[in-house]
Amino acid sequence: MDLYVDATRLLPQTDPQYRQTHVSQGTFLELLVLALSKLGYGAGIEYFPDGEYANDTLESRPVARVRLQASTATLDPLFAHIVNRSSNKRPYRLDRPVPEDAVRKLLECAVEQSEVAFETSLRFEVAPPIRKTLSYLATAAMAIEVADRQRNIETAKWFRFSDAEIERKRDGFGLIHNGTTGMRRWVAETFLLDREGAADPRGMFATGAIDIARAQAESTPAFGVITTSSNSRRAQLLAGRCYARVALAAESQGLAMHPMSQVLEEYPAMQAIKGQFEQAIGLAPGGTAQMFFRLGYAERAPHTPRRDANEMLRT
Ligand SMILES: Cc1cc2nc3c(=O)[nH]c(=O)nc-3n(C[C@H](O)[C@H](O)[C@H](O)COP(=O)(O)O)c2cc1C
Repeated sequence: MDLYVDATRLLPQTDPQYRQTHVSQGTFLELLVLALSKLGYGAGIEYFPDGEYANDTLESRPVARVRLQASTATLDPLFAHIVNRSSNKRPYRLDRPVPEDAVRKLLECAVEQSEVAFETSLRFEVAPPIRKTLSYLATAAMAIEVADRQRNIETAKWFRFSDAEIERKRDGFGLIHNGTTGMRRWVAETFLLDREGAADPRGMFATGAIDIARAQAESTPAFGVITTSSNSRRAQLLAGRCYARVALAAESQGLAMHPMSQVLEEYPAMQAIKGQFEQAIGLAPGGTAQMFFRLGYAERAPHTPRRDANEMLRT
């Protein structure tokens, strides 16, 4: 099977080079490899079989060709956690640090896949001073993100403002996925938030996003970063595979995980703070931070919706 980017679902305002799109494709590939291992197959992956394109363009060529192979390999235990894992955007418990042993297991799971290990680096930051810096930068990056009408219009396109919208579209995310439930959610969705108003950088949608990001970042006991030394399309796919493995390993340890991508983004207004972030994590010259995420303990969050798999298949 060939895997393609769906060009109708891009985020040109916040992901102008489609880097995050390709990282997402990598997460899909990793889940596919795990699912094939459950069915008793190996997966032979050829990245960009019709040629790799530059990392600031998108071409309608496949990002990967996957060949099913006879396999004697055993089932990867990460498979068992696919169904329960979800991004958890709630505040985390600051009274429960992430044990060193759990961090070690996450680091190990990323290197079990040799291709992923070769291309990507993963690290966690748990010391209070750097956490404080990263928390500040994540919040400041969200403030930059929502300061622009076009970016807000793009985000609101994928935000689901009611259960009815979630049911109809079966994609995107809404307040409920941040853990805003019950009366607060009802009031916000009924009286305070709508798609048109969301464009306004001074409106509730934008200012609420900064408050939520601050609460998320300040309650985080551990931050994780995945970096690559090159920023080729292939490196982006492998960063996605790495992220999926770590997220599944986190689920296996009862840990919550959540990407905070704003500070990594390539549009001009983000560049100054992105530079500060890269300095804070000690990014090697020429390297790219591909994923930045929170890790900790929290109540479960509801799953984001999923479309029918048939909608994504072309035969
Ligand atoms: C490359 C990438 C970047 C993401 N960045 C963010 C982010 O900045 N903020 C956020 O709340 N979720 C982010 N997510 C998570 C998605 O919003 C969404 O929750 C996920 O793709 C849907 O599946 P899940 O909720 O089951 O993980 C990101 C996901 C991917 C793959």
